[in-house]
Amino acid sequence: MVSYKELGLVNSREIFAKAVKGGYAIPAFNFNNMEQMQAIIQACVEAKSPVILQVSAGARKYANQTLLRYMAQGAVEYAKELGYSIPIVLHLDHGSSYELCVDCIQSGFSSVMIDGSHLPYEENIALTKKVVDYAHQYDVTVEGELGVLAGVEDDVKAEQHTYTRPEEVVDFVKRTGVDSLAISIGTSHGAYKFKPGTDPKIRLDILAEIEKQIPGFPIVLHGSSSVPQDLVKIINENGGKLKDAIGIGEDQLREAAKSAVCKINIDSDGRLAMTAAVRKVLTEHPDEFDPRKYLGPARDELKKLYIHKCEAVLGSAGKA
Ligand code: G3H
Ligand code: 13P
Ligand code: ZN
Repeated sequence: MVSYKELGLVNSREIFAKAVKGGYAIPAFNFNNMEQMQAIIQACVEAKSPVILQVSAGARKYANQTLLRYMAQGAVEYAKELGYSIPIVLHLDHGSSYELCVDCIQSGFSSVMIDGSHLPYEENIALTKKVVDYAHQYDVTVEGELGVLAGVEDDVKAEQHTYTRPEEVVDFVKRTGVDSLAISIGTSHGAYKFKPGTDPKIRLDILAEIEKQIPGFPIVLHGSSSVPQDLVKIINENGGKLKDAIGIGEDQLREAAKSAVCKINIDSDGRLAMTAAVRKVLTEHPDEFDPRKYLGPARDELKKLYIHKCEAVLGSAGKA
């Protein structure tokens, strides 16, 4: 058993409480490789923002779970080396089973999500509570989810949003003992969140109803990429084919961050930033074959994007 405390990581309890009070949200950025991790840490150190390093099941498969954990451990030292120590959470994104959560907790994660959102309500409660009971023995914080996001999640494809029902949240939070709650209010995973010609709005009215039920309780938004159109344009001008990619308006996320939403998950925007940079470099320099020559610029663009998120969208800059 490796405790996250020995690695210099923190759980999410204190930073969430501060974020709820302060009207901002902590960025939860996914990483799968070294350049993404470097960009996240460089950006959050420069912005002086707390950060949640997110690891999905797919990331564990791609990069190897042990390597990712050591990378997160290294991230703590790396931040110090860059000159400023920020709170860093290592979080399991969309944990699909009790066993996976236990495995992550034992290997140094400070926070886990158990995603029982596709299960019938009582089964979601039972599974979430089981994870909470285990995690809390080690002071690891747990995120649960109520409601289903449209799009692809955990290889399950939902055609339509099942919005979180505000009347269920008090019961769910009380009976599971979760530390934060992910909700479904119209955000979705990936780069195609809205159909062209539809009104790209999330249901801030449902968020307000939920907040009324559990005032001050930490709320999480998944699927919160904004799909910057300048990045889509660079990709498409350099051989890419992304048609009708539409995300959540940054103004809506800023509004949500002022509420009890204290964790905002962003993955796809980072993928777009890296892809745009790589495509541009390789189009402009077809003779280039040193990975550092395209992964370096990709890392720089990612860093810029993440600083922008902290400063202009989540409001987390300067809060570390
Ligand atoms: O919620 C999904 C995250 O964007 C992680 O995606 O499962 O492809 O690593 P992934
Ligand atoms: P995006 O696909 O909108 O970036 O969402 C990421 C996410 O929710 C990770 O859990
Ligand atoms: Zn998610």
